[in-house]
Amino acid sequence: MTSDNSTPDWEQYASWDKHYVWHAFTQMRDYKPLIIESADRCILKDVEGNELIDGVSSLWCNVHGHCHPKINAAISAQLNKVAHVTSLGMSNPTSIELARRLAMITPSGLEHTFFSGDGASSVEVGLKMAFQYWHQRENPKLQKNTYLALGSAYHGDTLGSVSVGGVARFHEMFEPLLFKVIRVENPNTYRLPAGVTKENATQYYLEQLETTLAAHHEQVAAMVLEPLVQGAAGLIMQPAGYLRGVRELTRKYDVLLIADEIAVGFGRTGTMFACDHEGISPDILCLAKGITGGYLAMSATVATTEIWNAFLGESMKTFYHGHTYGGNPLAAAAALASLDVFEEENTLNNVAIQSQLLSELLADKLADHPLVGDIRQRGLIVAIELVANKENKMPLDPALATGTKVCLAARKKGVWLRPLRDTLVIMPPLSISGEQVTQIVNAIEYGLEQL
Ligand SMILES: Cc1ncc(COP(=O)(O)O)c(C=O)c1O
Repeated sequence: MTSDNSTPDWEQYASWDKHYVWHAFTQMRDYKPLIIESADRCILKDVEGNELIDGVSSLWCNVHGHCHPKINAAISAQLNKVAHVTSLGMSNPTSIELARRLAMITPSGLEHTFFSGDGASSVEVGLKMAFQYWHQRENPKLQKNTYLALGSAYHGDTLGSVSVGGVARFHEMFEPLLFKVIRVENPNTYRLPAGVTKENATQYYLEQLETTLAAHHEQVAAMVLEPLVQGAAGLIMQPAGYLRGVRELTRKYDVLLIADEIAVGFGRTGTMFACDHEGISPDILCLAKGITGGYLAMSATVATTEIWNAFLGESMKTFYHGHTYGGNPLAAAAALASLDVFEEENTLNNVAIQSQLLSELLADKLADHPLVGDIRQRGLIVAIELVANKENKMPLDPALATGTKVCLAARKKGVWLRPLRDTLVIMPPLSISGEQVTQIVNAIEYGLEQL
């Protein structure tokens, strides 16, 4: 290890980065460092002084831009009071206030928040809570010891969340370590099965679900799904009415519904929560990423009073689960400030304006490109799926790394993007401006031209 008093230059950081830091979802042999030193709202500034629009919100979590004065101030103010208070048997005003605010803004009936530190943990919590609920409620159903999940689901990288996940390239390796779940076909409005049309897709997928529930509901503690959009699977979008149908069927068959809004929550789809689009309330809601505006690690699992009541009573009914930093007050202060900014800056209105502009620009500039198979959008979530053949939707050879090449070229036009293989992703902070939206689309157009 080297250590002297001079400030290292960026090349020194780059070599240390490649050696000392093990990056997530990154092949370290091929990794080319991009080192961000500071940021201002939607602009990232790297150590060489280059400016890049944060086109994917620092992995789908930034909401109001970086260094927002209100969120920075809230964190500083909290830091001067106390940085951390455990949630094991004690509390602090900031986390209490946040749990109260979450009960007010989440779909009706969700009242009780269990805090943890990242999205995967909030899913683990939801799974364990559902399981324990069936054991402890008034008429226990002890045979409910498995889960129902969608094909291609992604719910995080801990072993429980990987078990309910189903993205082969992330999860296959761990197969021997995972618990069994029951899987249903995931709705995919771009790649519909033979004989299924856009008009009857909802009915088709719900019939599949009902057949599975009818056969297995007695063993199923909960169904877990990402409402409206399956993120890491490739931003696969569900047909209208599917989510509502899932809620009705899970009720009919006495199965809990866990909605994983880690990626789609906090305004991303145009409403505060994706469930709001179809007017449904899950039994358990998992939140993370945007909860703190994308400033600090925090997640929340919000449950109904029906579930909460099953945990009240003698000691053995306690939910024996916890994370040291769950409910951290600094993160809670950022989260409360972020919720205030939603109101003060009318953030959802900006989502409506910019998503409309984005949709027009994409139709105008990219839809006719021979490699663009599908452009799908929900609020400020856009997927541009590149294919080898537009007619038969044949995927590109992954070895060509076409999506990565387009994103690298877009960097030359001042935009940072990270694709999901050959699906280009646009998920900017919700405070993005029209000018920046235009720059993102132009940069992708340029990237496609360079192929
Ligand atoms: C839908 C969904 N669930 C869970 C997770 C896991 O969240 P985290 O990375 O905070 O553990 C993610 C992360 O991308 C996600 O998109």
